[in-house]
Amino acid sequence: MSWKDHLRESVWGLSVYRPFDYASAPADLVRLDANESPYPFEREDLEAFQDEIAKLTFQRYPEVSGRPLREALARRWNVEPDEVLVGNGSDEIIAILMTAFGGGRDGAPAAVLYPTPTFGEFEAIALAHGARPLPVPLDGSFQLDELRLAETIRRERPVLAFFASPNNPTGNRFDVGTMERLARQMDAVLVADEAYADFGGATMVPLVGKVPGLVVMRSLSKIGLAGMRLGALVAPSELLAEVDKVRLPYNVSAVTMALACAALAHPERLDARIRRVADRRRDLETGLRQIPGLTVFPSDANFVLVRTPGDAKRVFDRLLERGVLVRNLSRPGPLERCLRITAGTPEENETCLRALRAALQ
Ligand SMILES: Cc1ncc(COP(=O)(O)O)c(C=O)c1O
Repeated sequence: MSWKDHLRESVWGLSVYRPFDYASAPADLVRLDANESPYPFEREDLEAFQDEIAKLTFQRYPEVSGRPLREALARRWNVEPDEVLVGNGSDEIIAILMTAFGGGRDGAPAAVLYPTPTFGEFEAIALAHGARPLPVPLDGSFQLDELRLAETIRRERPVLAFFASPNNPTGNRFDVGTMERLARQMDAVLVADEAYADFGGATMVPLVGKVPGLVVMRSLSKIGLAGMRLGALVAPSELLAEVDKVRLPYNVSAVTMALACAALAHPERLDARIRRVADRRRDLETGLRQIPGLTVFPSDANFVLVRTPGDAKRVFDRLLERGVLVRNLSRPGPLERCLRITAGTPEENETCLRALRAALQ
């Protein structure tokens, strides 16, 4: 016997998340691959961040309940602080939900439903927790197939369902009414993952507490704070109080809490930054639509999914040769020949469009 005999069976099938070797890349690489904001914070914000760091007592643990940050987030989303739980990115929130709800029943693993194609962590984190992934294909326009989802819910009784809206990597948002109807059929937990909702799309936060089992996941990553790692769950306080028991103490660092509070103290500056990125995505979408042969999928997020006329790997490589990094998602199925391109600054978008025109020659 060795440790190999004890590793969770599903872990053998997982891969380490290494999207790209950034350390070996040239410093001027145009990075449009990870749905980050292209804009650094301005000087006044950075100075406020430094002031907050100077005030920290590093020998102490962070405030364990995360209360001041939860209050700031609750104000932003117009909910109560005890309806907000914070995590080390929304990735950790997914893991916390799996720990709380994914235990299975009567020896059978818990089923975790999500439409596909979507964010890969729903599957990976479900597998890592011994749960059974239940992917349900989106329709030909990347929209929810309500009949099929309802039928799967009836048959498989998933304990958790994840609906990323706007969806990654397709970029479109889902119909709120459909998600609400599915949540009502679940008798379990439906997670609206709103990592990209700041850029477009109706939030389901006002329905939390009204639709049984509905919870909403948010992230600060896409709006300029990816390096800080902060995600949150908005849920009815009764549910949250139970889930909070499996959150590791001090999961969010004192640095993250202090800086996030400083950023949230100026919502007008955050909102201006969000509008700027949404404008850049519109510019990118418009530019991409002018490139012959490219299929451009409508986006409500901070990135655009495109289908190349020929081999996507070849286009990806040619872009990289020209100093532009995008995400190659091409595999047999609905993402065949697809690349995902994050909105950059006007200059980065222009460089990308120029490189793409040349790559498609
Ligand atoms: C749909 C979706 N949900 C959640 C996340 C995780 O975001 P984070 O852990 O940075 O908050 C991502 C990141 O790409 C995403 O695309």
